[in-house]
Amino acid sequence: LLRFYHERVVDHYNNPRNVGSFDKNDPDVGTGLVGAPACGDVMKLQIKVDDQTGKIVDACFKTFGCGSAIASSSVATEWVKGKQTEEVLSIKNTEIAKHLSLPPVKLHCSMLAEDAIKAAVKDYEAKRAKTE
Ligand code: FES
Repeated sequence: LLRFYHERVVDHYNNPRNVGSFDKNDPDVGTGLVGAPACGDVMKLQIKVDDQTGKIVDACFKTFGCGSAIASSSVATEWVKGKQTEEVLSIKNTEIAKHLSLPPVKLHCSMLAEDAIKAAVKDYEAKRAKTE
């Protein structure tokens, strides 16, 4: 089946970047946990933020889902690293899908990654608001 996919999908699927977990109770960590109702796939994406600069210094993910979802989350962690939290809110699933040349039926897989980024930033900001 993999041969139908773009080589970037296969690459990120075979060698996913930044697989792992951070401590979700760490005040510098934001956790986004999202699911796709259509297929039941689940993605967890976490960011670690420098609270002085608002910059995302690290990111990781765990995805229980299809190859496109794994590849999308792998790309997402690469794209958010080194950026400001506000900046990554504008990452669109269509950009991820385009980068990976995902077929239309797999668009929702990249949507999971966009949603997970937004959820992670939201979680981080909610935590910060609580401690301030
Ligand atoms: Fe549902 Fe890919 S098939 S996330």
